[in-house]
Amino acid sequence: MNLTSQKILVAGGAGFIGSHLVEYLIERGLTVVVLDNFRNGSRANLAAVAGSPQLEIIEGDITDAATCRRVSQDIGVVFHLACLGVRHSLHNPLENHQVNALGTLHMLEAARAAKVRRFVYVSTSEVYGRAMDFPIRETTATWPLTVYGGSKLAGEHYTRAYFEGFKVPTVCVRPFNNYGPRSHFAGDTGEVIPRFMLRALSGLPPVIFGNGSYFRDFLFVRDCVETLVKIAECDALVGGLVNLGYGEETRVDELAKLVLEITGRVDLKPTYEADRPADIPRLWVDTARLRSAIVFKPQTSLRDGLRVTLDHFRKLHQANPRCLEQMTARNWEV
Ligand SMILES: NC(=O)c1ccc[n+]([C@@H]2O[C@H](COP(=O)([O-])OP(=O)(O)OC[C@H]3O[C@@H](n4cnc5c(N)ncnc54)[C@H](O)[C@@H]3O)[C@@H](O)[C@H]2O)c1
Repeated sequence: MNLTSQKILVAGGAGFIGSHLVEYLIERGLTVVVLDNFRNGSRANLAAVAGSPQLEIIEGDITDAATCRRVSQDIGVVFHLACLGVRHSLHNPLENHQVNALGTLHMLEAARAAKVRRFVYVSTSEVYGRAMDFPIRETTATWPLTVYGGSKLAGEHYTRAYFEGFKVPTVCVRPFNNYGPRSHFAGDTGEVIPRFMLRALSGLPPVIFGNGSYFRDFLFVRDCVETLVKIAECDALVGGLVNLGYGEETRVDELAKLVLEITGRVDLKPTYEADRPADIPRLWVDTARLRSAIVFKPQTSLRDGLRVTLDHFRKLHQANPRCLEQMTARNWEV
């Protein structure tokens, strides 16, 4: 299926990944509706496409069934990214479930009523929990460690059920860690790369939780969103599930070294604190299924992607040198 001539709904389109996806869809000439309640996203994230006649932004909540129904009318393709994150689930598990699991059910029900041509559910590698076999395939058992992982997995099961039971043409995607401009640094959404960068830019050492031996598989956000579109267009993936990541693992202490090197602050030495609760020790993706379905060649190496990300955070830091105050050390407790 080709996305051209389809009206696209991006739920969570004002967030980090969602806003990059919206930019890419607009660049491709498509008409896009964003549904977001701006809990963690912002209109500023969509500044590059603001005012485009191809874009409509609707402020609304996916926990409201009527909103989901109204917004989904006339939609051909849905990308569902709206959610509350992993650290949020540690301090507010019930609300996390409400948005991630129940909100997804509302989005699916609305998609069924609107007879959409494709529903892309953006899940997460967190559903795997403590995997034992590496790299992680789609057949690896899921055993999440958090309500976030559990509620996102519930969303996958509901997505599958709407394909099997109601013939909604769905696909589930499990992205591994993303990074890039506009990634979150503040509050409970703050991620490791922006946090390392903003501390280094402020002359402070990176804080590593645990002994630095955890691994993550980092994908640059532009590569992620271009691939999400290819996945949406791939008929062979309908009804299925696919991992999405770069395919290389990086140790967190190596990442800290790389960030310090790129920032020009090799004089700073990381400090170590106790493990975060329910932190997954190792994430490393097997992309074989993805590569068998579509042409997948991430364009951006970690080093290049970090440089682009640093440009963004350097500007942000210059404009607001007090941005560090928005970063809480133990940000799963906020
Ligand atoms: N960032 C990553 O590294 C990563 C990795 C794996 C999976 N994912 C998945 O990708 C998706 C996007 O992640 P992100 O990093 O861009 O997160 P994000 O928080 O930036 O984006 C989520 C968006 O959903 C919105 N939202 C939250 N609750 C809502 C509600 N009730 N109604 C409407 N909108 C609501 C937020 O305001 C935000 O704009 C998520 O589904 C996440 O599970 C992200």
